[in-house]
Amino acid sequence: MLKLVIANWKMNPASYKEAQKLAGAAGQSVRKYRRVEVVVCPPFTWLTDMSHEKEYGLEYGAQDVFWMDKGAYTGEISPLILKNSKVKYVIIGHSERRKLGETNEDANRKLKAALANGLTAILCVGEDSKIHARGSAAVIKFIEKQLRECLKGLNSKSHPSTGKPNYIIVAYEPVWAISTNPGAKPDNPDQAERVILAIHKSLNSMFRAPHPMFRVLYGGSVNGANAEGFLNKPSIQGVLVGGASLKPREFEKIIKYADAVSVNKNKKVSKINK
Ligand code: PGA
Repeated sequence: MLKLVIANWKMNPASYKEAQKLAGAAGQSVRKYRRVEVVVCPPFTWLTDMSHEKEYGLEYGAQDVFWMDKGAYTGEISPLILKNSKVKYVIIGHSERRKLGETNEDANRKLKAALANGLTAILCVGEDSKIHARGSAAVIKFIEKQLRECLKGLNSKSHPSTGKPNYIIVAYEPVWAISTNPGAKPDNPDQAERVILAIHKSLNSMFRAPHPMFRVLYGGSVNGANAEGFLNKPSIQGVLVGGASLKPREFEKIIKYADAVSVNKNKKVSKINK
């Protein structure tokens, strides 16, 4: 399976012109390094223009969604609107949404509504620095609870409304590792792998068997210099990138590593890139 690289632009850039430039650069990188899947998640206003244009050859995702399809919900965007705007992916439960009050229960509703409309959900989970300080057993316990609550009521069968499998991406993003948080630093790839293996295990037991419906990614201060360490791990099936996705050269390096891992899983990526 190809590695997946997701760009979370957050509330950037400030103009459509800049957004076009960024998407153009990402599109060029994708044309250069083909064995990688790239999804770009711009702010809503740029998202729908871009997803209709399709000229950059990228897939698009939203950064959030509401759980109702239509109605009197001022300011919200529904999964039905996203589907009708040719948006395929949606980030749910990002820690920056959780900071504004979003709960696991909200994420669960959003996830079900997104899947019912055939969108692919990118569910973010991750512990804060306090839980991190308590050690890996506490971290895994916390993440398992987030998974249980966010995925409650889902099963490994096709979704009744779409007939498609419930295709879900889980992004492990330790909150303390997100580049804009004070004192942030990337997780160590071995430590991230330990948590991600626990996530795979927990998903397999919740859904009873290893199931192709899940992919697990790492996110948190991923950049051109450290992406290799994460992408080299077979259990880390891709990366969710914030800050570095706004810097075309950095983002291209990440795409290049993801491609190199897919091209030759047996060779060290560093050798290929010399
Ligand atoms: P970062 O953001 O890469 O800037 O740490 C990742 C995210 O918040 O999704």
